[in-house]
Amino acid sequence: MGYKETLLQPLKIGNRVVQNRFFAQPMECVDSDEEGNPTDLTFKRYENLFKGHFSLIDLEAITITNESRARKTQLEIMPRNEKALTKFVKSLKEINPEAQFVFQLTHSGEISEPEFSRRVTVKPVYGLEGDLLTEEEVEKIIDQFALAAKITQNVGADGVDMKFCHGYLGNQILRPYNDRKWKYGGEWKNRVQFAYDLYERIQKATNYDKNFLIGSKISMWEAFPGGFGSAGPDSPLMDMTEPIDLIKGLEERGAQYFVESLGNVHCSMEFMEAGKEDPYLSYLHIYFSKLMKDVLKPETVVVGSHFSSFRGTTNKLLSIEPEKSSMFAMGARCIDDGLMDMIGLGRQSFADPLTPLKLEEGREQEVKYCNQCMNCEELMIRQMPVGCVTFNKYYTDLFVEVRKKMGKLAELHT
Ligand SMILES: Cc1cc2nc3c(=O)[nH]c(=O)nc-3n(C[C@H](O)[C@H](O)[C@H](O)COP(=O)(O)O)c2cc1C
Repeated sequence: MGYKETLLQPLKIGNRVVQNRFFAQPMECVDSDEEGNPTDLTFKRYENLFKGHFSLIDLEAITITNESRARKTQLEIMPRNEKALTKFVKSLKEINPEAQFVFQLTHSGEISEPEFSRRVTVKPVYGLEGDLLTEEEVEKIIDQFALAAKITQNVGADGVDMKFCHGYLGNQILRPYNDRKWKYGGEWKNRVQFAYDLYERIQKATNYDKNFLIGSKISMWEAFPGGFGSAGPDSPLMDMTEPIDLIKGLEERGAQYFVESLGNVHCSMEFMEAGKEDPYLSYLHIYFSKLMKDVLKPETVVVGSHFSSFRGTTNKLLSIEPEKSSMFAMGARCIDDGLMDMIGLGRQSFADPLTPLKLEEGREQEVKYCNQCMNCEELMIRQMPVGCVTFNKYYTDLFVEVRKKMGKLAELHT
């Protein structure tokens, strides 16, 4: 089968069907209004993804509370947001009713920005100290997640991605470093209880509706001693026993899909978004997707990550034949070989949100490929609206402005 046939094949996910194998990764873009509602800028981004025929679209990390959050203008999902989110989903679904739309629910925990919110922690990590969470507070957070899942269902979205990746709260509780003596710390059965309770509460809040998709993006290895996927609270050794147990346990509790990831936003960024200099880290992600596929039921969908580095035929990846390492060819091969079921595009979905449509229409030559400049990431770090600085003039201009201001600031400080 050619790559086009493979990538455009439909796939069953839970009780639903996605039209092709393109997954739009959740990408935080810091462009909500002051109440955490989507703005015109937010709508424009998703409008393009719906028009571009991504078949499964993961709404960026949407926070279940504004008390603790990572971005000043981050999307929020609380009762006050229900009306705006309903309108948002309805308008997008009109563009492509077949696309499945899931919301990535998050709480930032220790990654919350103290300048405008409350940083909380399950056990203080060097450089990220915050208020120690109590058991009662965690119970309240579980209630907020369940309510957010209910709102996701009410507003017409198709499911949730309960975020357990990149060092946000869902990830912090799971890691061996959380050896604090409390209900959610120490032994693995305590650390994983939070994830299991959450899934059970989400199921209940959404009326055990089998049509509602439930899944998670997971950092299988956080890449620091004591991080999730390491052998002990301060161990530098990778150990997959707990990550494997987690995904099997979540599958038993109703997960229909998983998105593979690695790394932590605070300390091991290359593993979550490889830059220009280390594109070959993408091969590592393929290994972890396969690991997930191997232990899960065949019908549980695994989405592979990190396909932006593969680009067209002019990437920096060593390959036996260059055209075999292009994004389309490599993605199709990974699916044909049973290493994953769908390919996730993050930065590439910024560079060219019409990527799947162009493949469908035989216009592959027109695809604009992400050059991994990481300027989108810089906009995010600076709490500015995010998009492709290379191919979208709005964000190019914004970026130039931001850099000018930074230059001025640097001058002021010398
Ligand atoms: C600007 C930016 C925002 C991101 N926001 C999120 C997010 O909200 N949730 C998440 O799980 N990952 C987020 N990521 C990580 C991506 O979803 C993806 O896993 C990563 O970029 C690797 O895929 P790629 O090579 O296709 O870009 C973000 C990455 C970038 C660059």
